[in-house]
Amino acid sequence: MKRTKIKDLIATAPEEQTVVVMGWVRTFRNNQFISINDGSTIQNIQAVVELDQLEEGLLKRVTTGACISVTGKLIASPAKGQQVEIKVEQLEILGDSDPEKFPLQPKKHSLEFLREIAHLRPRTNTFGAVMRVRHAMAFAVHQFFNEKGFVYVHTPIITGSDAEGAGAMFRVTTLDAENPPRDEEGKVDHSQDFFEKETNLTVSGQLEGETYALALGDIYTFGPTFRAENSNTTRHLAEFWMIEPEMAFYDNNDNMDLAQEMLQYLMKYALEHCKEDLAFLDKRASDEEMTKPQAQRSELGLLDRIKFIIENDFQRLSYTEAIDILKNSNPNKKKKFKYIIEEWGTDLQSEHERFLVEKHFKKPVILYNYPKEIKAFYMRQNEDGKTVGAMDVLFPGIGEIIGGSQREERYDKLLTRIKEMGLPEDELKWYIELRKFGSAPHSGFGLGFERLILFVTGMTNIRDVIPFPRFPGHAEY
Ligand code: 4AD
Ligand code: MG
Repeated sequence: MKRTKIKDLIATAPEEQTVVVMGWVRTFRNNQFISINDGSTIQNIQAVVELDQLEEGLLKRVTTGACISVTGKLIASPAKGQQVEIKVEQLEILGDSDPEKFPLQPKKHSLEFLREIAHLRPRTNTFGAVMRVRHAMAFAVHQFFNEKGFVYVHTPIITGSDAEGAGAMFRVTTLDAENPPRDEEGKVDHSQDFFEKETNLTVSGQLEGETYALALGDIYTFGPTFRAENSNTTRHLAEFWMIEPEMAFYDNNDNMDLAQEMLQYLMKYALEHCKEDLAFLDKRASDEEMTKPQAQRSELGLLDRIKFIIENDFQRLSYTEAIDILKNSNPNKKKKFKYIIEEWGTDLQSEHERFLVEKHFKKPVILYNYPKEIKAFYMRQNEDGKTVGAMDVLFPGIGEIIGGSQREERYDKLLTRIKEMGLPEDELKWYIELRKFGSAPHSGFGLGFERLILFVTGMTNIRDVIPFPRFPGHAEY
C-alpha cells in the first residue's frame, strides 16, 4: 500500500479505511500514543497502539526521532484538538534513533543550539514552518512574474565582472593555491587559470539581466548571489538568494510601483496559502516578544504586520527629505544614533532607516533620489547633477529589503561616470556597448529573498531562514 501524507489524512473523513503513514516520531506517551510528523504539515497525526499489542522489543524502538511506518484504520479521534487518528495494526521501524543521543528532545531548544545541528533542525516545528513558507514564497515569486508576462532569465553564477563595484567577491580559480603560476612581475598569472582570466562568484545578476530586458522587455532572475563582506549581522549572509526584475521602458516611478505591487502580492499569497504555519509562527514570535522589555516589543503581531503591508501604500520620500527629517529627529539631536546625521550626502545606516519606518512614518518607506556618491555607477543621473534615480524599500524590523534604480541608458553619461569612478572599462565593455545599439530607458531592483522570509516568518536572524547559512567562519555542510 502507498503511504498517504499527513496533510491529506487530516483532511479526510474517517471511515475506518486502512491507511499507511510514514514519518518521524515526535513523542510517545504511555506506551500508547505516538505522535508522528512527516513534514507535509505542521500538524502531527496520532497513532494509537493497544496495550500489549506490540512486542516489548519493538515498543522500545519507538523513540523520539525514530522513523516509522504505521498501517492502520483512520478513525475519528476522541481526543481534543484533532479530527482523526490511526488505530495501529502494523508498525515498522524504518530508522532507529537512540534516545540517549538524539539531540532534539521534545522540549524547547534555543535557535543558537539548533544552528549547530542544521542537519536535524528541519525536524522541529519552527524550521518545518519556516521552510514551507520559504517554498511558498519562491513559488509565489515565479507565479507573480509569470502572470505579468516576465521571462525568467538564468544569469551566470561565475562572472568576470563586479556588478556592484563593491569589491567584496569570492574568487573562482583552479590554480594551485600552494604554488600558483606567476608572471614576470611575480603576480599570480591568471592567463593560466581555467577561464584564462580572473573570475568570481556573482554579487548580482543585474548587469547580465539588463541585456535581456533590452531584448525581451520584462525579465527577472532568481538565483544565489555571493558577497564576501565581513558583516556579522542578523541581516547579512555571504550566500543569499536574490530576485532581480529588470524592465525596459520603466522609469523609477514605475519601478517603485512594481516593487510595492510585488511585495503586497507575496504577503497576500502567504496569508492565503500558509495559514497554519503562519499561525504557529505568529504565536512563536509573540512568545519571543514577551521575553523582551516592553519598550522594545513591536506594536503589531506577525499576522497584523503582514496585513499592514497589504493594506497600506508605502511612503515615498526623497533622500533629501529623509535627511531633513533625520537631522531634526530626537535621537539625532540627543545623540542617540550611533552615526549622527550632520549633512546631506552621508549614507544612511540601518538605525536611520528603521527610525523612518518604525518611529516616524510607521509604515514601509521607499527612499529615492540618493546622492550619486553613495550609489553604484549604473544608476541614472538626475538633472540636478547631484543625485541618481535610486530607490530602496525599507521594511519594519528589517531595514532595506529592496535596492534598485532606473539605469543610466545614455552612453556618454555612463562612460563618463565609469571613468570618474575608476572602474575597469574593459570588463564593462559589453555593458557600455548596450547603450550604443538601441538603448532604452529601463529600471530594475533586487529583492533579498531571505530578508523577505525574515519578514514573513517573524524570525529575527537571517541564519534561521536559509537551510545552511554561510557567514564569516561558517561553511559547514
Ligand atoms: O542593494 P543591493 O546590493 O542591490 C543590488 O545588488 C542590485 N544589483 C539590485 C538590482 O538593482 N537589480 O542588494 C539588493 C538586496 C538588498 O536590498 C537586500 O535585501 C539583499 O539584496 N542583500 C542581502 N541579503 C542578505 N545578505 C546580504 N549580504 C545582502 N546584501 C544585499
Ligand atoms: Mg542596497
